[in-house]
Amino acid sequence: MAQGLFISFEGIDGSGKSTQARALAQALRAAGRQVTLTREPGGSPGAEEIRHLLLDGPPDRWSAETECLLFTAARRDHLERTIRPALAQGHVVITDRFADSTRLYQGITRGDLRATVDRLHDLMIGVDPDLTFVIDLDPALGLARARARAGAELRFEAMGSAFQTALRAGFLDLARAAPGRFRVIDGARPADTVAAEVLALTQARLTDG
Ligand code: ADP
Ligand code: TYD
Repeated sequence: MAQGLFISFEGIDGSGKSTQARALAQALRAAGRQVTLTREPGGSPGAEEIRHLLLDGPPDRWSAETECLLFTAARRDHLERTIRPALAQGHVVITDRFADSTRLYQGITRGDLRATVDRLHDLMIGVDPDLTFVIDLDPALGLARARARAGAELRFEAMGSAFQTALRAGFLDLARAAPGRFRVIDGARPADTVAAEVLALTQARLTDG
């Protein structure tokens, strides 16, 4: 049986994570791999219910602390019900966002909650992906793309461009601190070009083990 691999996509809103996660899943399936494509918040029935609580409503609906707990609860369910079973069956699991999003959205952008986020992660989650792609993009471009997209939940996007700028810097800092896990990808290029680079890096990782 093939060895499972756990991959996440991270980056600011509208950077192209969902597009790239889908493209990678399709390419790997075409190459004969079994793939589970999933997302956060969500990715299991219980976590999808929590997603609605988190993403619908006004920006100040939850305190940052409450948000941490809700994202962590959703992630724990996602891990138990979707991610771990798929990895055990040898799937490549591709998730659109994971714990790095909490480290930044809840951890650094609204007060310094990073220590709390890290403690909760250690207590309840305890794993990070094998490989994380940060799709890096200028926030102005990301916002324009996100606005053009129909039907998106807008709670976090409504928090503004200074927030997105802080997020972008935060993702790049996380990547610098853990170069073994992260690959920073220039998301301003055409989607096909980005997808080809992501696929090549994933295949290199699958080959190296
Ligand atoms: P995210 O999941 O990071 O919010 P999406 O993948 O949903 O981003 O992309 C946001 C919007 O931008 C979508 O309408 C998508 O079709 C478009 N898009 C994605 N990647 C690119 C790209 N490389 N160039 C131009 N537009 C893109
Ligand atoms: P999503 O639909 O993934 O938005 P986008 O496609 O724009 O990335 O919505 C998820 C939103 O939730 C996004 O704004 C980021 C936020 N989020 C957090 O604040 N913390 C988290 O831990 C996660 C996973 C997402």
